[in-house]
Amino acid sequence: MKKVILVLLIISTISYAKNLRLKDLPKELSNYYPPKSEKMEFVELMHILSTSLTGVVSNVKEDDWQNAQKWAERLQENYLRIGKMVKSWDKVLKKKDVKNIVEAVKSKNRSAVMSSVQAVGKSCVQCHKTYRLSAKIKFHAPDFSGTNIEDPVTGLDYTIEDYMKAMTNNMKMMRIYLIDGEKGKARKEGFDFIKRFEGMTQMCGDCHTGKLSEEVYFGVEAKKRITSLREAVVNGELIKINKNLKWISENNCAKCHNVHQTLYLLKEKFGK
Ligand code: HEC
Ligand code: HEC
Ligand code: HEC
Repeated sequence: MKKVILVLLIISTISYAKNLRLKDLPKELSNYYPPKSEKMEFVELMHILSTSLTGVVSNVKEDDWQNAQKWAERLQENYLRIGKMVKSWDKVLKKKDVKNIVEAVKSKNRSAVMSSVQAVGKSCVQCHKTYRLSAKIKFHAPDFSGTNIEDPVTGLDYTIEDYMKAMTNNMKMMRIYLIDGEKGKARKEGFDFIKRFEGMTQMCGDCHTGKLSEEVYFGVEAKKRITSLREAVVNGELIKINKNLKWISENNCAKCHNVHQTLYLLKEKFGK
């Protein structure tokens, strides 16, 4: 008798969790960003480099060697400044290649210019790949950890997190009380929500100058919705309340979160 051997293949699906790793930035880089400096010298240097590189290539293409030399020298001088501003980055610079760009322009050797430009360009790309996202998060993402806001309901100072929680709770309780037939309580929650909603604009000025940014989430349309919500709260109209809250959630809460909260959470994870 033949034995039938059944081989069971167990196919397992393995999922890999992707870890987002952010490389730490050299400490010295902080010297060129707020709060240490408001001048954004490093970002400015990057723009000079980018313009200089284009200045070289475009002039070489047009056979304007004199102007190409001017831009090549500007490129070299500023490229080397990276290593002076941030010591530990000095060693990643393609110093020989940037010098070769100047030499090749002087001897009007187009192909030599282009191959050295490529080598220098690679060093730009390499460093950006490693550090750019970290720099964006560390130096450009909003930091809400120091922001407090006076709560218009209790008169106390709240952290942003506690304020957001209190406001969300008002939103939920307003609905729950209405569904449960507790009109008076629902009304109080509704009014507290509106106070807190309007109170959010207190904090914008901590980081934004002028009213333009505020108008994006607290403009005419948002004000109309709040007026309509207030009426609905007074009359205990659940459908109208839901309609206005839906608009507010999608156009105020969610949009502001996409811009501020996502970045802030990343920043928090990255640490100081
Ligand atoms: C400035 C723009 C802004 C607006 C407008 C805004 N939020 Fe937030 N919200 C934030 C930020 C920033 C955080 C992260 C704060 C933190 O974690 O300290 C946050 C966090 C939250 C959280 C999470 C709190 C926790 O437990 O960590 C909730 C819930 C929330 N918001 C609800 C709302 C609701 C509801 C609205 C609209 C009625 C709203 N937010 C409008 C910026 C905003
Ligand atoms: C050793 C690291 C390093 C090298 C080399 C480097 N960069 Fe950068 N660059 C950065 C970092 C870090 C940022 C992000 C700065 C920020 O967002 O504040 C950046 C950002 C930029 C930006 C965007 C600036 C902005 O406003 O967002 C440009 C343009 C740029 N670099 C051009 C260049 C060019 C061109 C070169 C090569 C000739 C170069 N960089 C070489 C580190 C480097
Ligand atoms: C802790 C600092 C901080 C606070 C508080 C803050 N923002 Fe911002 N906001 C930022 C940063 C950083 C950006 C990214 C763009 C930039 O650097 O200006 C941004 C971007 C924005 C943008 C998109 C680009 C622009 O500038 O228009 C809007 C709109 C905006 N914020 C609205 C608000 C409103 C409304 C409030 C108050 C409810 C607020 N922000 C509170 C830091 C903050």
